[in-house]
Amino acid sequence: MSKILVTGGLGYIGSHTVVELCSNGYEVVIVDDLSNSSLRVLDGIESITKSSIKFLELDLKNLELTESFIKSNNDIDGVIHFAASKAVGESVDDPLKYYNNNIISLLNLLTALKKLDKKINFIFSSSATVYGKPDILPITELESIKIAESPYGNTKQIGEEILFDLVKSSSNFNVLSLRYFNPIGAHDSALIGELPIGTPQNLVPFITQTAIGKRDILTVFGNDYNTHDGTCLRDYIHVIDLANAHVVGLNFLKIKKESNYYDTFNIGTGKATSVLELIEGFVKFTGIKLNYKIGNRRSGDVEKCYAEVSKANNQLKWKSKLTIKEALISAWNWEKYISNEKL
Ligand code: UD1
Repeated sequence: MSKILVTGGLGYIGSHTVVELCSNGYEVVIVDDLSNSSLRVLDGIESITKSSIKFLELDLKNLELTESFIKSNNDIDGVIHFAASKAVGESVDDPLKYYNNNIISLLNLLTALKKLDKKINFIFSSSATVYGKPDILPITELESIKIAESPYGNTKQIGEEILFDLVKSSSNFNVLSLRYFNPIGAHDSALIGELPIGTPQNLVPFITQTAIGKRDILTVFGNDYNTHDGTCLRDYIHVIDLANAHVVGLNFLKIKKESNYYDTFNIGTGKATSVLELIEGFVKFTGIKLNYKIGNRRSGDVEKCYAEVSKANNQLKWKSKLTIKEALISAWNWEKYISNEKL
């Protein structure tokens, strides 16, 4: 059985990926510093998978602890690296936190892995944010990478570059950088999902929290964009499809004969949905009324961002399967579950 280390495995995408790995026969060990997650997520994963998952609370910024952890887990053959901070606005206010959390941790992890001196298949959690304002839509992996719009975006660009350079220098690493578009939704069981701390910045958790009454009103950030209804277009992908892309990515790397392999893949659906379409979809699919108003644009928002996914379709043989309807219903079920639990 192949053993995979998942860093940040108790986070939103990490936890769903752990479930997908387990159901595809992988043994998983999770490390997470619990800075933006909680142990209740581990309970959720274990209830879904009906298995006990190895977990260690570890801050990858500590090189010594990271090295000793990797040494004692030298039977791992793959790593999926999610552990990172991800709030764009916070990264502008506190860039050093982002460079520390996202870059130092990656360097420490790679330093420790390199010492194992064995073949490691590595998947890096990247983001469509690396494209900034795209020149051509849908966005292909050939889109030019411009100066990052935020320190968070920059950490994803730098992370990709570090891995690219490492792969050139060491035949022990084969790497995929997966550039996620907009993950939404939750596991069907409603036992795991997105757990935003404080006021959600992302659209879907804001929708579900408004629908359940935690927030008074949702603001649509601008309806004067050059799109069919004036609101921004995004490529919303069900988190389960996204999680599955990691399993497919690992399987792909496992059978790769060549070494020194590095590549980037867009992970999205290829479909563009506007903010208003998503809101209308939520109301239609759940039957719940939503209080919303049109407000000003949010600074830094890109008008249109959706993926060309043929590279992942053709090379990884991966394709998203689930619909926005399924994603929104699962997000709503998850919101109801966590709201009840907190009562
Ligand atoms: C954001 C981040 C991106 C990150 C991604 C992770 C910014 C500028 N970008 O992307 O770097 O990788 O999250 O999921 O923060 N919207 C509203 N009202 C709201 C919230 C959002 O109208 O209360 C709109 C936004 O203007 C946008 C769309 O909904 O058009 C999606 O927003 P969001 O979920 O925050 O994702 P992104 O901005 O695409």
